[in-house]
Amino acid sequence: MEIRVVYADITQIPANAIIVNLFEGVTSLGGATRVVDGALGGTITQLIADGEIKGKLNEITLIHTQGRIAPARVVVMGLGKEADLTADRLRDVSAEALKFLHRKGAKQVATIVHGAGAGGIDTTVAAQSVVEGALLGLYVFRQHMTKEPDFEDIQELSVVEQDEAKRAAVEEGCNRGRIMAEATNLARNLVNEPANALTPTILAERAKALAEAWNLEYAVLDREQMSELGMGALLGVAQGSHQPPKLMTLTYRGGGSTSLGLVGKGITFDSGGISLKPAQGMGEMKGDMAGGAAVIATMRAIAELKPKINVTAIVPATENLPGGAALKPADVLRAMNGKTIEVESTDAEGRMILADALCYARKLELSPLVDVATLTGACAIALGPFCTGAFGNNQELVDKLIQAGNRAGEYIWQMPMYQEFKDLNKSDVADIKNTGGREGGAITAAQFLAEFVEDTPWVHLDIAGTSFSDKERTYRPKGAVGVAVRTLVNLAIDMAEK
Ligand code: BES
Ligand code: MN
Ligand code: ZN
Repeated sequence: MEIRVVYADITQIPANAIIVNLFEGVTSLGGATRVVDGALGGTITQLIADGEIKGKLNEITLIHTQGRIAPARVVVMGLGKEADLTADRLRDVSAEALKFLHRKGAKQVATIVHGAGAGGIDTTVAAQSVVEGALLGLYVFRQHMTKEPDFEDIQELSVVEQDEAKRAAVEEGCNRGRIMAEATNLARNLVNEPANALTPTILAERAKALAEAWNLEYAVLDREQMSELGMGALLGVAQGSHQPPKLMTLTYRGGGSTSLGLVGKGITFDSGGISLKPAQGMGEMKGDMAGGAAVIATMRAIAELKPKINVTAIVPATENLPGGAALKPADVLRAMNGKTIEVESTDAEGRMILADALCYARKLELSPLVDVATLTGACAIALGPFCTGAFGNNQELVDKLIQAGNRAGEYIWQMPMYQEFKDLNKSDVADIKNTGGREGGAITAAQFLAEFVEDTPWVHLDIAGTSFSDKERTYRPKGAVGVAVRTLVNLAIDMAEK
């Protein structure tokens, strides 16, 4: 779908539909909705008086204009109570409107910048939210469908603004929204891809293609180079699979004194290994590379937005399978920093591949570090499907991530890192073991990672609960959510020199 910014009278736009809005409880109309209502001879006012339009959040009313104005249809979206309006609600509203019009077969859609007038939301933020919501909401994964879709794609979204003074802000917001949404949808595509179509080798190829398209530096480590670097933990996880492991890095050099490191878990399929997972729902583990997908996709948006900061994404990628050469419980591995790990469960593989990737990030002198991983079922149990867990050794960085997440509409909740949890990872035979028991499982996993970042400022985001959804909700589809991409892009922008 093409995004255009248009400066015209909304009643003159030759679109299949225009989208306007209404706050809950409002009876005397303002802004674009008032203009449209006037041109339609008071239809909207009448529908409000009849109690048919209430303005409740995400309420949709379709009006056919019968030639009275240029657009063939008007959609009135409810924005909810004016006092409760947020940028994230604008994403919801825009997504619901576009999904509705897609099902109506619309090809050309126009929308006003909801929330920027009476709503009091900053114009750039409002425009960004409207475009983000639209592009994120319309996402579908049809890669492996041979049947034609029921409805063709909407071809064009025109964002209409009449106020001369707001033009620059609307254009900037629309551009940012498009970049954020396209990167998020890229992450979704990688996560939704089944494991036979996205092996570590293919993931590395996709990262390489992205680097070439967006002028990023690219490097990949194969088994031999990992071995030379002493990445025994990553190699240990990989030894049960016929697919060779890859560790890919993407680097953006925007200048400035910060070199942010983003590390993403890239398990392209997690069967659990010899500590095999139950069969029920195992297919969801094709998405165990969602952290890796998030950091790769983030690099695309950063390359497009060009903030003044250096950013490197690192993705250790392997399958976790129970082949004949697989890792066994009680095996002992040696990570890149020399620490030895007792493998209590081969299903706690994420922390092991991240251990080596974090050591590698330190070797590259990246600081601060943020890792993103579908690490523990325990985090999903603790925080549910709407909230990513944050764990760190640096409060300032944790706070920055929470802030960045807030603006993205991605909830991040900080979890504790008390010393007592670290002690649960003590092993009788090695320096550390890879599980700390069921209780506080998300925290002991984070404490395991902390052993490998040492004194580098670091935050770990556990997205096990937030990366994959069993239900469609406004701009988040069923399946891969693409979580953390927009948060990380916001973080890079916030940390960049102005
Ligand atoms: N990839 C899983 C975590 C996960 C669970 C992600 C559910 C998404 C949804 C991870 O590798 C894993 O298996 N973790 C174990 C750790 C345990 C063995 C200590 C878990 O959470 O059960
Ligand atoms: Mn696992
Ligand atoms: Zn896993």
